[in-house]
Amino acid sequence: MNVLLVGSGGREHAIAWKLKQSKKLKNLYIAPGNAGTAQCGKNVDISDTDLRGLVQFAKDKEIGLVVVGPEDPLSMGLVDLLEAEGIKAFGPSGAAAQLEADKAFSKLMMRASSVSTAEGRVFDRYDEAKAYIASRDEPVVIKAAGLAKGKGVIVCDEPSDGIIAAEKIMVDRIFGDAGRQLVVEDKLLGEEASILAFVDGSKTIYVMESSQDHKPIGDGDTGPNTGGMGAYSPAPVVTDKLMSKINREVLVPIVDGMNRNETPYRGVLYAGLMMTSGGPRVLEFNVRFGDPETQPILMRLKSDLLDVFLAVCDGRLDEITLIWDPRPAVCVVMASGGYPGDYAKGKVIKGIAEAETLEDVKVFHAGTAFSGDQVVTNGGRVLGVTAMGDTVAEAKQRAYEAVDRIQFEGAYCRRDIADKAIRAQTRS
Ligand code: AMP
Ligand code: GLY
Repeated sequence: MNVLLVGSGGREHAIAWKLKQSKKLKNLYIAPGNAGTAQCGKNVDISDTDLRGLVQFAKDKEIGLVVVGPEDPLSMGLVDLLEAEGIKAFGPSGAAAQLEADKAFSKLMMRASSVSTAEGRVFDRYDEAKAYIASRDEPVVIKAAGLAKGKGVIVCDEPSDGIIAAEKIMVDRIFGDAGRQLVVEDKLLGEEASILAFVDGSKTIYVMESSQDHKPIGDGDTGPNTGGMGAYSPAPVVTDKLMSKINREVLVPIVDGMNRNETPYRGVLYAGLMMTSGGPRVLEFNVRFGDPETQPILMRLKSDLLDVFLAVCDGRLDEITLIWDPRPAVCVVMASGGYPGDYAKGKVIKGIAEAETLEDVKVFHAGTAFSGDQVVTNGGRVLGVTAMGDTVAEAKQRAYEAVDRIQFEGAYCRRDIADKAIRAQTRS
């Protein structure tokens, strides 16, 4: 089967790497891809938001399945356009993708489905948001309601900071149109976890192994939020008991709610959760694989990913068994200096091959490109250096050993990825 994968991040390199292992795969195309995906298939120079171009390409190349990685083309309705042409596509419809693209809709769906989340209010006007924030004396979280590449959330311990954040988002539009509406939420306390599940429409939900992201730029979870600076799987904070609670009280009700809303859900559903003392609460839903969570999760998946994608599309996920490597995996993101603010591009990257000679290490590319024969930086998050080990401490050590073999000017990474999991494992 010919497959077209849409996207260009670390997540897409991980998906491409895994699809390449499928016996059913004939040709793999990645639009637009990065220097890493080029090792797994053929990159095509079509932007992930050029919906017409993507549909035309799929028709021309007799693509049997299109896998849509990022949220933008999903929320713009790429899957709907492909299906209208009779082309199978993995991912939710444009209407269902609003569960991520519109945080106001998402809050409404959570409320209608009795899914536990932070108390929150939605505002269309800055003056009303300001008055509301000023009236509170608890820490607040200020969120642009639209898509902002994972950066549209500002956690504020003081109401005065909340007002400044609201002004930046709604008035200064630092996240563009994503800030037309604002969600103001109570700040929740606890440890975070990412739970991703395959959902085939109405019948079956298969939860993947748990994982944990590291959103802030600095060690010890300090500084501004990023798209994610590292991840590990599994997340010890999600015990088996909690996992079944999350399935029962979060995934099943939201999938049912989406059906009742006549926006049935198909694809990967990602619940970003806070494990509070009162139980798991949803911070956000994403309508796709997480980045960088996908890198350690797919490194542990033993089943044929193409089979899983096709089963989701055909509504027969119950015929599939997900098999996992029990060993933990850790992914450390190497970023361009300055990210999540401004950063330079075009820096030559050296040492990837040397890093990959280490056992159970895979370097997933994110913001990379070719400049002649050389691989150069081309984005904020550049590489996801991922390793497995018998313990999470071993996986971490291996991942950093690999990181230390890679160089590019201005390279930055957190040094504490997976420490929470190691502490949890030491305690148990
Ligand atoms: P989101 O994109 O909504 O998941 O938010 C990004 C990050 O902001 C999350 O991963 C959390 O670290 C933080 N965050 C979001 N909402 C809350 C909340 N209500 N309480 C505490 N932290 C939050
Ligand atoms: N790692 C967070 C996300 O993919 O949104």
